[in-house]
Amino acid sequence: MSDRVKEVVPDLIYAIRSTLKKHGVTFEEYGAAMQYLIRVQETGEAPLFVDAFFNATIVEIDNETRKGTQADIQGPYYLNSEAYQIISERLPHRPIDENAQDMVIRGQITDTDGNPLAGAELDIWHSTPDGLYSGVHDGIDAKYCRGRVITDAQGRYSVKSKLPVPYQIPNQGPTGELLEQHLGRHSWRPAHIHFWVRADGRRDLINQAYFENGEWVGDDCCETDHLDLVVPELIENGARVMEVSFALDPVLVVAAE
Ligand code: BEZ
Ligand code: FE
Repeated sequence: MSDRVKEVVPDLIYAIRSTLKKHGVTFEEYGAAMQYLIRVQETGEAPLFVDAFFNATIVEIDNETRKGTQADIQGPYYLNSEAYQIISERLPHRPIDENAQDMVIRGQITDTDGNPLAGAELDIWHSTPDGLYSGVHDGIDAKYCRGRVITDAQGRYSVKSKLPVPYQIPNQGPTGELLEQHLGRHSWRPAHIHFWVRADGRRDLINQAYFENGEWVGDDCCETDHLDLVVPELIENGARVMEVSFALDPVLVVAAE
């Protein structure tokens, strides 16, 4: 790691210095930037700020070495592995969401040659039908709209839930202020479902699926426009079906130095 720090950090510092010079940044602006970063820290928005602006770039780099399904950003709302109970039928939803639109998430996990991966694990998480994350917002119990699903002998999985909606990343703090007031952008993410897929001998895949014809698809505030992960519209028995299949790359072998 320390070699990587020596490799990467001087370039990063150089890139920032060049930008400051290019724009003739003044003491006043330098001070304002410092105050801004202090606010990001003090408001607890550091993970949000970093994810909103840089997560998609790390995903882009990671995807260069994948032949199977491409990865997407994780975002700051995964919680930890313990928040995911094994689910056989339905992700828990709040009683107040009982009448929200039903959704079925189903698909198959394979290797990159199309062989089914039995016993693969998918941690699935998404927003409530009013755009909040359990365990993060409004004191909502962490069990809602989250669960772990295991694939069957054909590598298939299927789980019911309630439809998520587009939502704004928190826009009352410094991250939203930068996006909306200073950069003239917006703070919306299209409706999406998050996945973290694991299988023995395969590389973990963190991914998201989006809804065809969904608002903000292709105009995500986090600039993670994976239009290959937009799932065609399909309704079965009144439920929106999300067919989401993944091909997992083999574990990366890092050459010894
Ligand atoms: C999310 O997908 O939940 C998310 C991603 C980046 C910033 C904030 C939220
Ligand atoms: Fe999300």
